[in-house]
Amino acid sequence: MNGHPGGAEHTRHMLELADLPAGAGVLDMGAGAGEAVALLNSLGCRAEGIDLRPRTDRIREGDFLSAPYPDESFDAVLSQCAFFVSGDPEGALREARRLLKPGGKLMLSDVEFAPLRPMTEEAGFRILFDEDLSAAWKEYYIEALWRGETCDCELPKGKCGYRLLIAEKEK
Ligand SMILES: C[S@@+](CC[C@H](N)C(=O)[O-])C[C@H]1O[C@@H](n2cnc3c(N)ncnc32)[C@H](O)[C@@H]1O
Repeated sequence: MNGHPGGAEHTRHMLELADLPAGAGVLDMGAGAGEAVALLNSLGCRAEGIDLRPRTDRIREGDFLSAPYPDESFDAVLSQCAFFVSGDPEGALREARRLLKPGGKLMLSDVEFAPLRPMTEEAGFRILFDEDLSAAWKEYYIEALWRGETCDCELPKGKCGYRLLIAEKEK
């Protein structure tokens, strides 16, 4: 349960929706085992990742709520199932906005314990695409429990949905 619903196919779907230029610089916030970073690099991006507890040495160890990169470092930010897990989704969105170049793209899929779309708009993003993936999340969660998997990180408690957003940093 340390990944996200849909695996690599879901990451590809997000990338297609974001329509990034070739060679785009991408930061994966909460990159975990680095699968998405490896996929993005294999598809022509210049991707890197940061995680509090990286599960590979190819991902930088660090807190994405105060990420060690200058303002406007990236063309795009990816984050899958990590902003709410951090306990501070608003702070994560602020940091994503700081790290993006003007017009940069946010590719976000996350559990939502509070509505993610208005939170993302309030953080200064224009929503380009919005998909409710709550049914896929429930299936993923139940299958993971069935296999006896646990989550290394603390998930907030309570009823939640799962949402995919593609958004653009407003100038
Ligand atoms: C459910 S896992 C998802 C990992 C990966 N994005 C994926 O989909 O396979 C959530 C990840 O977010 C990371 N994380 C949570 N809060 C963080 C923070 N403040 N800074 C960096 N990483 C964080 C955790 O360490 C964990 O690896």
